[in-house]
Amino acid sequence: MSMLPVLAQVTLLMLNRVGSSILFPLHGNVYPMGFYNVTLNIGQPSKPYFLDPDTGSDLTWLQCDAPCVQCTETPHPLYRPSKNLVPCKDPLCKSLHLHGCKCETPEQCEYEVQYADGGSSFGVLVKDAFSFKFINGEQLKPRLALGCGYDQSPGPFPHPFDGVLGLGKGKSSIVSQLSKQGLVQNVIGHCLSLQGGGYLFFGDDLYDSSRVLWTSMSRDHPKHYSPGFAELIFGGKTTGIKKLLTVFDSGSSYTYLNSPAYQALISLVKKELTGKPLREALDDKTLPLCWKGQRPFKSLQDVRKYFKPLALRFTNGGKGKTQFELPPEAYLIISRNGNVCLGILDGTEAGQDVNIIGDISMQDKVVIYNNEKQLIGWMPANCNRLPKSKTTSF
Ligand SMILES: *[C@@H]1O[C@H](CO)[C@@H](O)[C@H](O)[C@H]1NC(C)=O
Repeated sequence: MSMLPVLAQVTLLMLNRVGSSILFPLHGNVYPMGFYNVTLNIGQPSKPYFLDPDTGSDLTWLQCDAPCVQCTETPHPLYRPSKNLVPCKDPLCKSLHLHGCKCETPEQCEYEVQYADGGSSFGVLVKDAFSFKFINGEQLKPRLALGCGYDQSPGPFPHPFDGVLGLGKGKSSIVSQLSKQGLVQNVIGHCLSLQGGGYLFFGDDLYDSSRVLWTSMSRDHPKHYSPGFAELIFGGKTTGIKKLLTVFDSGSSYTYLNSPAYQALISLVKKELTGKPLREALDDKTLPLCWKGQRPFKSLQDVRKYFKPLALRFTNGGKGKTQFELPPEAYLIISRNGNVCLGILDGTEAGQDVNIIGDISMQDKVVIYNNEKQLIGWMPANCNRLPKSKTTSF
């Protein structure tokens, strides 16, 4: 009855034949939408679902008719699970229960995910076919575990999504499961365009590693993609704002600093604005801190000159420093009212215990999470153009 030898053979075959990458277009933007969206085809026959790509969590789940106790509004009919329950003893189930919480019965595996914004999903793990088109043209339907979420509570900013695409570094992530089957390298990358949209990829064929600025993934944050501790640089100068434990989180639209760092930053920004034709727009509630010009601003180009570039400097595990640059576009937005607002928020106030590099600050860069080599990398990019494979397809 053992399936293992057959599976191993198939895996080997695929490694030789595929060993490729998967590329997905992204829709959405930081403002005004406040989220990005990727379409995945799941089930037999496969149906499309709109998912929220989140590097801050592991499990992929769909709002699910199991039946659903509490579901939020979805763009598609609720997912109907296959009969393939993941049993409690499965390592994937164990990886979700690291902090206690056992299964109710051995036949199934309950999960619960809670998000920083207060949203959550509760359900059971099932296996189903995911339909992927690889960049070498191959179309495959690997069976992967996902959450059938039948009890969701929305966060404060609910969007009409079918579910979440968990891209974290845990075993249950789709990419980790694909890499276990030998189909892709456990590498995730995304490129969010300043004009909205962009792309997401799994695998390591879509970038030239020699052009990427790499820094080691820190162990100081066991669950999230963290480049470790950073120092804040303002206009090319050190600020004394140091020891900022930082994580990359595509599920967060804005960037967050802890209160002391946030306060220090806004006093630097405000000082820089003295004598400039900008005054605080207390009536604009788009974000906590906005400024008005003499006339409404149309684009970030209009305000660029008033704001200095920022940077986060990482120690790269003691192997020399790497810098993550934040030009004004990476921390400001133009609100609907034509004011310019600071897209860096007070994380302590928002209940975050770490500093978060959110979508706003990752725009117009390819950001890569290489779980094989335990590296995080980035490079400037035009995210409106889909990348080409660096290897020739066959
Ligand atoms: C998600 O993207 C699709 C295009 O692939 C688009 O039609 C849909 O409106 C988007 N959904 C949301 C919630 O933005």
